[in-house]
This record gives sequence, structure tokens and C-alpha cells, in this order.
Amino acid sequence: MQFKDLVDKDFFKDILDNCNNGINIADINGRVVFSNKVSASYVGEQPESMVGKMITDFYPKAVLLSVLKYKHLIHDKEIHHVGGKKYMLNSFPIFMKGKFVGAYSIFKDVNDIDALDKKIKTLELQRMLNSTESDFVSIIGKEGSLNEVLKSAKKTVGSLAGPRHSIIIGESGTGKTMLAKMIHSYAIKVGVLNKNAPFVEVNCAQYTNPDIAAVEIFGSEQGAYTGARQKKGLFEQANGGILFLDEAHALDQYQNILLKAIESGKIRRVGGSKEINVDVIIIAASTKNLKNELLPELYQRLAQYELTLPSLQERSLDEKIDLLNYFVKKYENAVIKNRNIKFKVILSPLCKDVLLKAHYPRNIRQMRDVINLSIDAASPLISEIHDGEEIIAHVELEHLPFELFNEHISNERNSIKNNIINSHIESVIDELSRQGLGPRKISKILEAKGYNIEYYKVAYHLKKKKSVP
Ligand SMILES: Nc1ncnc2c1ncn2[C@@H]1O[C@H](COP(=O)(O)OP(=O)(O)OP(=O)(O)O)[C@@H](O)[C@H]1O
Ligand SMILES: [Mg+2]
Repeated sequence: MQFKDLVDKDFFKDILDNCNNGINIADINGRVVFSNKVSASYVGEQPESMVGKMITDFYPKAVLLSVLKYKHLIHDKEIHHVGGKKYMLNSFPIFMKGKFVGAYSIFKDVNDIDALDKKIKTLELQRMLNSTESDFVSIIGKEGSLNEVLKSAKKTVGSLAGPRHSIIIGESGTGKTMLAKMIHSYAIKVGVLNKNAPFVEVNCAQYTNPDIAAVEIFGSEQGAYTGARQKKGLFEQANGGILFLDEAHALDQYQNILLKAIESGKIRRVGGSKEINVDVIIIAASTKNLKNELLPELYQRLAQYELTLPSLQERSLDEKIDLLNYFVKKYENAVIKNRNIKFKVILSPLCKDVLLKAHYPRNIRQMRDVINLSIDAASPLISEIHDGEEIIAHVELEHLPFELFNEHISNERNSIKNNIINSHIESVIDELSRQGLGPRKISKILEAKGYNIEYYKVAYHLKKKKSVP
């Protein structure tokens, strides 16, 4: 007997049962002729008990019905089925010897795919919001506080005498990584580096074990230590491009090897004897003054240009306004692109004022994060929006993170700490909040009762309560 002779009805039934998709076959009257296990499991049935009954008993909105009516196939139709489950479906008419006898559907539960798609979109949105600029065009302050430093930055790679190593100093979040990336793209733009020149980033503070650091930075040869493989280090990977040594004050005992590599243009892998030529521009960044941290010879080699970025506090109010508008626009654009909705952010004047006057120890990065969080707080959830919808996020004081709010309130002369809200008013506020009223409504009701308490003070009280465990 040949294999093809084994292929009988039961054989195909087994295959259909083991298939990952749901399958229904119905006759021209819409009665189930066959449903596989997956289809039955979607509706909590056994396949045998579905046979002979109407398909609509199990799938009230079965697309198959329309195939039975019009005798046309339906391809990749997304349907919403009872219970909120979503299926992607193909449905086909069945003809036997030219006669129309019924229809079948093959469908897949796409809820998992949907959830995954949403997750990917969210990750993509996060990436867009947190991305670091890498071109000189989008940088805020290019005509202001960063004017001089940007000119020097261009010179590091664009001067007639050829590219030089450089140092970038600035407090955390002032744009050091951004500036290094800009130097890289500028070097490519002016042809000092070729189009695919690498930008390799090393955080020198990440290595607690100096031997691992050496292998990572300089590479290793097979057998250099037990289990060692032949491996290119980051230095070699940066060949022909830029090696960005972030937190360079943590270079420690590698300073000598680094100095040698810079002076000779050659490195040696750990455990190797061969010298390898490397042509790398080094940018070292730090929050500390590297003059006090590095060996004088190494410092001198790297500090051919020393670029210092100002803290956010040192920037003008106009620049802070530009930064604020820039991050708001960036959020809007990311959401519009990612979520397929119309999206606008409106900051209340008071909220803007607080955002601009706040103290940000982690500088521009922190300001960016605070703006993003506040817009998050004022926006609906993903599950509440629909394609093409128009959404306006009104950002009010109560949407700001608690610390900022706190700072603002304690800066106020008529502060809440002066017991403007006494325990009686507190209990009224708590009661109204329990009834589901927001700070604005509560403030209005209090006003009608003769207590003049601004809404943001009410919001402060409620937030403070929430933050006390
Ligand atoms: N002048 C600017 N214009 C626009 N965006 C900026 C500016 N300066 C910084 N940013 C943005 O602020 C964020 C933080 O910048 P970056 O990561 O470069 O700071 P950093 O000094 O490297 O911080 P860290 O010390 O934490 O490594 C990035 O998203 C960057 O794009
Ligand atoms: Mg950085």
C-alpha cells in the first residue's frame, strides 16, 4: 500500500484538528458540517456537538453566512466576535462538480498579535521620546548658550589640520552624548569620516572588574585566559570612526594602555602579541573635571578641544521656553505618528510657569522626562482612544510630578503650610474627592461655602495624601 492510499477522510480530519487556526465548514443552510478542535475551543464546545446545528448558535456574526449568501470569498477580514475576541478570517465558497454546496472559514485569534503590536508601538513611542538628537539643526540653544561650543565641536573634526580627540564636560543630562553623536554625524557630512563610520560608546564606569574591562575595550586572543575566545575589542570596532568614552574619569588603570594606543595608533589584544593598527577619534566625556582625574599626559592628548556644556540653570528663560516647546512638539509628533490620531497638548499658563521655574538637578534629560510624564498624566489611556480620533491633552498643575508640585507650593508665600487648609476643610475635600469630584470642582464648591482655596492647593492636598502610604 502506498502512502497516498492512506490519505483518507479521517487523515484530513486529523490534520484540520491539529491546525492552529479555527476551521468551520457549513452547508448552504448554514448548518455545521465540520468544526475543528480550535474552533470548538473558542466557543467552549466539543467539535462533535456542533455538527448539524446552525453556525450562528456558536458564531452569531459568522462571516461565513455572507459567503453563503454571495458565493464570494472573503479575505483577511478582521471581525469582532462575541466576548470581545478578535479574529482574522478567510472564508471560501465550496463548489462540488460546479454546484454550490456550502462554505468554510479559517480564522485565527488575533488578540495576542494585537497585544504584541500595541507593545511594539509603545516601545517604539518610548524610543522616539527618549531618542538623542544627532544633528546640529534640531539642537536648542545653537544661537544662544551653545553657540561657541558648537563652533568648537565642528572644529574638532572639521578643522583643516584634520580631526582631533576631544573632551566634553557637563553635568548629567546636559547633552554630552548628544554632542558626541552630532560630532560623528557632522564628520560624516563633511567627509572626514566615511558614510558607515562607526560610533562606539563605552561607559567606563560600568566595569567593576578591570580584567573584563581590558578584554571589552582591547579585545582578546584565544587562550589569553581560561576559556578566552578571539574577540575584537571596542577599540577595534570603532576603527575608522569615533570611540566615545563616557564617564572617562572611571578609566583608572587603563589610562596607560589608552595613552599608548593613542600615541602609537596601535593596540594589542589581551593575550596577543600582534599589534593592530587603529584609526580612531576619541571623545571622552565626564561630569567631572578630567584635568583632575586623568594622567596629565592622557589629559593633554585628549583635551585638544575641551567642550563645556552649560547646566540647564545657566540657560536663558527663552532657551528654556524653546526646550519646553520642543519636547512638547516631540511628544505630539511621536503620538501622531505612532497612534494614528490627531493629538495636541495645551499647557495651562501656571503649569508652564512651574515647569520653567523648576529646579532640575539632572538638567535637560530630567526636564524632558518631567514634560513627558505630565503629558502622560493628562492624556487618555491607549485603550480609550480610537483610530483617527482628535485628542487634546490639557496639562494642568495637578498633572505634574509630585516633587515639582511640592516645590511650587513651598515657594508660594501663601503656602499650604501656613495652615490655609485646616482639618475641617481637609475632611470636606476628602469627602468630595471620595464622591469622585476633581480638584477644580472641589475648589468651586469650597468657594461657594466661603473658603477661597485655589484648585491646585486642593490637588496638592489630595496628591500628598496619595503619596503617604
Ligand atoms: N540643546 C538641546 N536641544 C535639544 N535636546 C537636547 C539638548 N540638550 C540635550 N537634549 C536632549 O536631552 C537628553 C539628554 O541628553 P544627553 O543624553 O546627551 O545628556 P548627557 O549629558 O549625555 O547625560 P548623562 O550624563 O546622563 O549621560 C537627550 O534626549 C537629548 O537629545
Ligand atoms: Mg550621556
